[in-house]
Amino acid sequence: MSAVRENGVIVAIDGPSGAGKSSLTKLLAQRLGYIHIDTGAMFRAVALMSKRAGIATDDDARLAELCRGLEVTFVRDGENCRVLANGEDVSTEIRTEEIGLLTSAISARKPVREALLTMQRAMGAKGGVILEGRDIGTVVFPDAEVKFFLSASAEERGRRRYLELAARGDKATLEETIAKVIQRDQQDEGREHAPLKQADDALPIDSTSLSIEEVLTVMENAVRERLAQDDKR
Ligand code: DC
Repeated sequence: MSAVRENGVIVAIDGPSGAGKSSLTKLLAQRLGYIHIDTGAMFRAVALMSKRAGIATDDDARLAELCRGLEVTFVRDGENCRVLANGEDVSTEIRTEEIGLLTSAISARKPVREALLTMQRAMGAKGGVILEGRDIGTVVFPDAEVKFFLSASAEERGRRRYLELAARGDKATLEETIAKVIQRDQQDEGREHAPLKQADDALPIDSTSLSIEEVLTVMENAVRERLAQDDKR
């Protein structure tokens, strides 16, 4: 056990959509016995609720009010994790392409980022957690003990997403899916508040031609190395 925080270290995994963050974070959390926090799901929950309330993506006053009245929580469901927005299970509804693009716009707004920043810091402070997102290593926990920046080419990320959608029976073409991946990257990297960018002290991993198992091994070794160093102190 690390001496750094009460329950262990904080691991930050940032990177663009489709780089494999969710699968890897889940597996790494299982191997380490850590809690997994999918911060993208929190932004998606805000986007879904804003859509239902008919709030425009640039209406900061109403977005701030929405966030004040919103509690996003995670509950374990066997191997998976359900996302609850004020107690309602929104896990499936937040995963559509439409909500994905809306989330990218909503997550650029300052009041939304501020509200979720507070929630994420409270969830992770004791350590023993892996947070995945876009700004974990740069803004949410700049002092995280281990940071990864996971990327892959836009074509490969689009291909992975396309296969996921096809398995669900979605009719999107490969070209359209790659175009949406590129559009989301531009929105996430170009925004003013907490843009997607690699922290200076993050370990970059390009997963374009690596298997999940290969990436997982690199990550697990890096975390265990850090834990061993802390134990020696
Ligand atoms: O990881 P994801 O695809 O579920 O994320 C959905 C959107 O949320 C993505 O376009 C960027 C945004 N996001 C963010 O701005 N900051 C985070 N920490 C996580 C996600």
